[in-house]
Amino acid sequence: MTHVPVMAQEVAQYLVWEKKGIYVDATVGEGGHTLYLLKNFPRIRIIGIDRDREILKRASENLTRYRRVTLRWGNFSNLRNILHQEGTVKVDGVLLDLGFSSFHIEDSGKGFSFQQDEFLDMRYDQKEKLTAYEIVNTFSVGELADLFYTFGEEKRARKIARAIVEARKKNKISTTRQLREIIEKAINRRGKIHPATLIFQALRITVNRELDHLSAILTEIPELLNPGGKVVVITYHSLEDRIVKKTFRNLKNQGKFIIHTPKPIRPAKEEIAMNPRSRSAKLRAGEKL
Ligand SMILES: C[S@@+](CC[C@H](N)C(=O)[O-])C[C@H]1O[C@@H](n2cnc3c(N)ncnc32)[C@H](O)[C@@H]1O
Repeated sequence: MTHVPVMAQEVAQYLVWEKKGIYVDATVGEGGHTLYLLKNFPRIRIIGIDRDREILKRASENLTRYRRVTLRWGNFSNLRNILHQEGTVKVDGVLLDLGFSSFHIEDSGKGFSFQQDEFLDMRYDQKEKLTAYEIVNTFSVGELADLFYTFGEEKRARKIARAIVEARKKNKISTTRQLREIIEKAINRRGKIHPATLIFQALRITVNRELDHLSAILTEIPELLNPGGKVVVITYHSLEDRIVKKTFRNLKNQGKFIIHTPKPIRPAKEEIAMNPRSRSAKLRAGEKL
């Protein structure tokens, strides 16, 4: 397995309370967290969900020894129906470990990383229509600038949007490398972050409507948990974290929920040293009353 699960110990600590419970790993990926939980809690059952069929195959290989796990292809914002199809209405805990996996960057070939040279696809789910290619080749300067600003928090959004629209007059922009070079030419590098990082993040969020799906599941979660049921969310950028923080606060104000992490939990220094991908992770957890 190439993907190292982030804050696995902390996830277990905040998620598992009912030792014979049913838990949902709503972003099962290659199965890192699920494997950790199945190993450490010998009587729990897990329903593992992912939107990407390819990565689910990997999860299935990595978890083949375990009968206590069921893997389902689907979007976590459709959790109610997925549980229904599994003959379950409520569960004891839900884990969301957001964003993409090492698999997406290194092996998927779907253009998630500007460090590879791949077609600009970026869909987790190949059934969806909108690709990053479609966005960079058809959206107007205004539309591109808005999405780079909103989902990338990139202050130089308009300049980059203009450079993209100018470049595509000559040739369609079809690869991650072409896009990276256009961005590099348009703006100077500042600090440690490569200028393409935030633009790629914005495109990925837009293609997969990541923030919409996150808001949808968080609002619905209390109805899908047994009393005492837990929710644990790991985010990797401030846009996601803000949604989790706000939704948890709203649920608490409605008297439905207890927040267990007044401040988000961060990985220990040792974990960041071993797994640099974990450096931006923030974990928030709560409980249904
Ligand atoms: C960070 S990875 C999860 C890694 C996993 N926890 C592990 O330890 O191996 C996030 C996964 O969530 C999936 N994903 C993203 N949005 C989703 C959604 N709306 N519904 C279901 N899966 C989603 C991605 O395809 C990706 O595999």
